[in-house]
Amino acid sequence: TDQYAVTGNPIAHSKSPSIHTEFAKQTGEDMAYTAVLAPLDGFDRTVDQFISQGGKGMNVTVPFKQEAYQLASVLSERAQLAEAVNTLKFENGNIFGDNTDGAGLVRDIKENLGFNIQNKRVLLLGAGGAARGVILPILKQLPDSLTIANRTAAKAVELQQQFSAYGAITGGGYSDLAGREFDLVINATSSSLNDALPPLPAGVFASHALAYDMMYGKGLTPFLLFAQSEGAAQLADGLGMLVEQAAESFFIWRGVRPATLPVIELLRK
Ligand code: ATR
Repeated sequence: TDQYAVTGNPIAHSKSPSIHTEFAKQTGEDMAYTAVLAPLDGFDRTVDQFISQGGKGMNVTVPFKQEAYQLASVLSERAQLAEAVNTLKFENGNIFGDNTDGAGLVRDIKENLGFNIQNKRVLLLGAGGAARGVILPILKQLPDSLTIANRTAAKAVELQQQFSAYGAITGGGYSDLAGREFDLVINATSSSLNDALPPLPAGVFASHALAYDMMYGKGLTPFLLFAQSEGAAQLADGLGMLVEQAAESFFIWRGVRPATLPVIELLRK
């Protein structure tokens, strides 16, 4: 039985063990997946211990994704650009680091929500780790444009500079959004954690727009309620992204793609 785990701090409420256990059951893969609490000053140590116990791979969550990026000996392009790693694979003495968050988001939007990103005007709110992690996978879908808005506009401008070689991307503040309209608006700020609303001007949601909050488990967040009141056609929370990023990790480890819809439905209950 191959051993996998998610590590973070805190970790007790992580849904990853139940998601991966469902995937394993469904695909018949001979593996076990647990949660491992890492001390705040002991991420590397926790990973080393797991490797020496024969562990094959790990998921990494808050607050260690940047440390995992530093620790990995080989990185995927998307992890390199995200400067964050959520998936580690241990193989032949190497630590391979990848980031499946953006692929999970894109897959949820395309496959589960039926929204095609190509040629669409995309607005991404936030310029922290969560936003950075999804930029390259969004650009690879060839949107008409990707606009990043952040409270601290300079951070969004920095992202524009770092990613401009990969597609049509601009960054700025919320006030730059006045008078503009978008087909897809993604909330990658941590505002929903505090029941706060990013300072969006009225009119940014096209009537057919999809409003996507990367937060999950909070019901309708202030962002989604605002989107609804502004007439956005479709609302989604981040539960699908959570399951899809897990499926991407599972595929990296096992070479098998599990069905995600039954697991999303299970978690909704
Ligand atoms: P994460 O890893 O979740 O991205 P982070 O790196 O701390 O966390 O980034 C948090 C993001 O949420 C930032 O873009 C932050 O904006 P600032 O860079 O201006 O601080 C954004 N954010 C947090 N609370 C917000 C709020 N109430 N309204 C708008 N943006 C908010």
